[in-house]
Amino acid sequence: MPGPFIQIDQLHRTYREGDQSQPVLRGASLTIQVGEMVALLGRSGSGKSTLLNVISGIDRVDSGTVMVDGVDLTKLSERDNTLFRRRHIGFIYQFFNLVPTLTAAENIALVLELNRCSRAEIEEKTDHLLRAIDLAAQGDRFPDQLAGGEQQRVAIARALVHSPKLVLADEVTGNLDAETGQRVLALLKDLTVRNRTTLVLVTHSLAVAQSADRIVTLEDGLLAERQGHFAW
Ligand SMILES: Nc1ncnc2c1ncn2[C@@H]1O[C@H](COP(=O)(O)OP(=O)(O)O)[C@@H](O)[C@H]1O
Ligand SMILES: [Mg+2]
Repeated sequence: MPGPFIQIDQLHRTYREGDQSQPVLRGASLTIQVGEMVALLGRSGSGKSTLLNVISGIDRVDSGTVMVDGVDLTKLSERDNTLFRRRHIGFIYQFFNLVPTLTAAENIALVLELNRCSRAEIEEKTDHLLRAIDLAAQGDRFPDQLAGGEQQRVAIARALVHSPKLVLADEVTGNLDAETGQRVLALLKDLTVRNRTTLVLVTHSLAVAQSADRIVTLEDGLLAERQGHFAW
């Protein structure tokens, strides 16, 4: 019986700059089951990226708990947080964030190198992912030698190569034309559904959101379950 995989409870996060303070998360709570695909909707500036960064342990909360697979990330040291992320989480960004000085294959292999996998395992998994994203012949290209949609496919491969239990995707199609975006998204869904990977996807597209198992909105620092139609 699969239990809750992510349990976010009463998250508070306020950004402070000088004497300005901006509360972004104000008691956000959410439970996600293993293998679920959850679409996160919210207006620009509502705190979606902040929330994904908190779930991945990149950003810290002021208070609240973030349980991922039974581990409370808010209690981990910086180092243990990094190790947890490297082993169990894949992150895909809106602007790809590939390392410009590494080839596509090297970008994909990076997390395996960091996890000290064997050379044979690195080659096998990298080749497998390059084929899965249909870029087997382009592995030696650098990011700036690839089209936007190809770069995002490499970013997806990089996020999935270590078979993470959780993938966080932050507006992955936001920087692509509609058709390319749809293809990138179909690929992401295909690769995650196959492995029962839990997927949290920030999107502005209602069509994308409606293809998820659940839709959650972030508004005024709170998360809410939604069905039906939206204002944006
Ligand atoms: N590092 C930061 N320092 C200060 N303010 C930030 C920082 N990151 C985000 N913010 C502010 O917090 C709010 C939420 O940002 P963000 O999480 O990026 O929202 P979204 O992804 O929904 O557009 C915005 O008003 C943004 O300006
Ligand atoms: Mg954002």
